[in-house]
Amino acid sequence: MLKVEGLHAYYGRAHILADVAFEVSSGEVVVLLGRNGAGKSTTMKSIMGLVAPASGRIAFRGTEIAGKQPFEIARLGLGYVPEDRRVFTELTVEENLEVGKRPANPDAPEWTTEKLFALFPNLARMRDRPGSQMSGGEQQMLTIARTLMGNPSLVLLDEPSEGLAPVIVEQMAKTILDLKQQGLTVLLSEQNLHFARTVADRALIIEKGRIRFAGTMAELMANEGVRAQYLSL
Ligand SMILES: Nc1ncnc2c1ncn2[C@@H]1O[C@H](COP(=O)(O)OP(=O)(O)OP(=O)(O)O)[C@@H](O)[C@H]1O
Ligand SMILES: [Mg+2]
Repeated sequence: MLKVEGLHAYYGRAHILADVAFEVSSGEVVVLLGRNGAGKSTTMKSIMGLVAPASGRIAFRGTEIAGKQPFEIARLGLGYVPEDRRVFTELTVEENLEVGKRPANPDAPEWTTEKLFALFPNLARMRDRPGSQMSGGEQQMLTIARTLMGNPSLVLLDEPSEGLAPVIVEQMAKTILDLKQQGLTVLLSEQNLHFARTVADRALIIEKGRIRFAGTMAELMANEGVRAQYLSL
């Protein structure tokens, strides 16, 4: 579904991503793990066209997307939830969802506000509440739900568990597994290995802008050396 090859990206003269390559297949949940500053968000921004790749290829369902504009990439069926989630604070939960609405996508689950309220019962209970009166965790759920309203076939979630209380992290994991059940493909970035292992099929480790490990979650859990070297334990 997604194939990244030889991706290089810069901020000014700083070489941030070096020869990044990986694939995500349809129906998979893949986690991109790495410490602060490793290049997780830059990888996601490069895929979404928010950072212009200096070189490399990014194919989404067979279409070359490197060099396209973010709105064009989103239209092809890529959803993105950035790490600095933003809800429209003046709009209610339901109105926030309506803003995210886009035409159905033939190869992706089709979402309505009612289906999303079934998936996010806590949002259903506050559908008329303005965004300004929601907790950080609730806003995080709402930005994911709003992205789903665009009917993406692949969603990029940048550190979905970050800053959430343990009980909300558990809900988030359940939500991601529900989405996988519905046929959605997910690429998420994380520092929280415990969370990652409850949701992901496969793991990639990025360090200093290079992919250092790619394997199944079971392979990563069996490889203490790699975890000790590249992840905060
Ligand atoms: N807009 C920017 N301008 C210049 N350098 C940047 C910019 N954004 C990020 N960087 C640098 O690029 C590198 C990769 O950052 P990135 O945000 O991709 O890391 P990350 O893995 O997402 O980290 P975190 O876990 O803290 O979110 C870091 O060294 C960071 O300081
Ligand atoms: Mg980041």
